[in-house]
Amino acid sequence: MSMDELVNLADFEAAALPRLPAGIRDYFRGGANDERALAENRAAWERWQVHYRVLRDVATRDLAVEVPGGRIDWPVMIAPTAYHRMAHPEGELATARAAAALGTAMVLSTLSNTTMEEVAREARRGLWFQLYVYKDRGITRELIARAEAAGCGAIAVTVDAPVGGQRERDVRNQFAYPADLPMSNLLPQGPRYATPDLADGGFMGYVNRMFDPALSFRDLEWIAAQTRLPVLVKGVARPDDAVAALGHGAGGVIVSNHGGRQLDAAPGTADVLGPIAEAVDGRAPVLVDGGIRRGVDVLRALALGARAVLLGRPVLWGLAVGGEAGVQRVLSLLRHEFDVAMALAGARRVADLDRSLVARRGERPR
Ligand SMILES: Cc1cc2nc3c(=O)[nH]c(=O)nc-3n(C[C@H](O)[C@H](O)[C@H](O)COP(=O)(O)O)c2cc1C
Repeated sequence: MSMDELVNLADFEAAALPRLPAGIRDYFRGGANDERALAENRAAWERWQVHYRVLRDVATRDLAVEVPGGRIDWPVMIAPTAYHRMAHPEGELATARAAAALGTAMVLSTLSNTTMEEVAREARRGLWFQLYVYKDRGITRELIARAEAAGCGAIAVTVDAPVGGQRERDVRNQFAYPADLPMSNLLPQGPRYATPDLADGGFMGYVNRMFDPALSFRDLEWIAAQTRLPVLVKGVARPDDAVAALGHGAGGVIVSNHGGRQLDAAPGTADVLGPIAEAVDGRAPVLVDGGIRRGVDVLRALALGARAVLLGRPVLWGLAVGGEAGVQRVLSLLRHEFDVAMALAGARRVADLDRSLVARRGERPR
């Protein structure tokens, strides 16, 4: 099947799944426990209806937004996901090239198969580094310093994984990362850090052995003090945590529940975004991810107060189907959908997307 026949992100998922070995397929698509949070992320966006405006002259539309590190042509960035070479041999290089071609930025996972220095050379429209905080603060500090030296525009520190979520598909499959694909950013630390294997408890064993469950707001201050880069806190689900993060040195928050892979009773991010954005009140950018699959989801997110959104699994589906070209097509389908949604909602620029445009089904717009 040619990629032209794939007309939306769901088509890409359907095309990608049969191409992947079962263990990798389940690792990519799965969520924690009963996968309720995973389903809720989708359902929550769909509950928000768009009370569109008419007669607003939408003949020309400007989708660009300012995010930490620079301007992007449209408000969708690539979320950090581990191990892109499990989806395609060119891995993160393919993803970064596709992001650059589509005028947007990428967040590189700590657990990538390509070093941040190599990816930075391809990421012409901005690269952020996603940080997992190692118990070993020397390693943590080294990763931050390298990200800054490589030219990253921001650090996104992930705080929703003090321990690994219970992903039962991975338990059943005894999933382990392929031994021939290292966590390239950790190669200087040696094989114990860069190549987790099943004998060591696989992926979950690695998370629980290496990442620091004692992480607190004090550590956030310490992280912010290590770098001149803005530090965004990824994995926030409550207004009070967002406000506290800003008080402890964060330069922004990413509303996220890790794509439903951590706490299974978490609310859909669409339902907590609005209150968080209101509490932050414009003092710092608020981004969101989880279940964004349609251009109109991007519009919903911006109307609820997000500066931009991040896209997780669909990027992996694009990689699996067609490498760089596959990710390019995933992004261009979503960009086109967003552009059409803007026009149909009566918006010429993203600043036109205000809170009165959206209301939950059955409720009146504000
Ligand atoms: C296969 C996979 C790997 C992920 N790896 C990371 C990671 O290394 N670091 C991180 O902060 N988040 C990670 N995430 C979470 C994503 O950054 C993001 O929050 C989530 O995928 C967004 O939801 P979506 O997949 O529904 O778009 C991962 C998610 C998936 C699906």
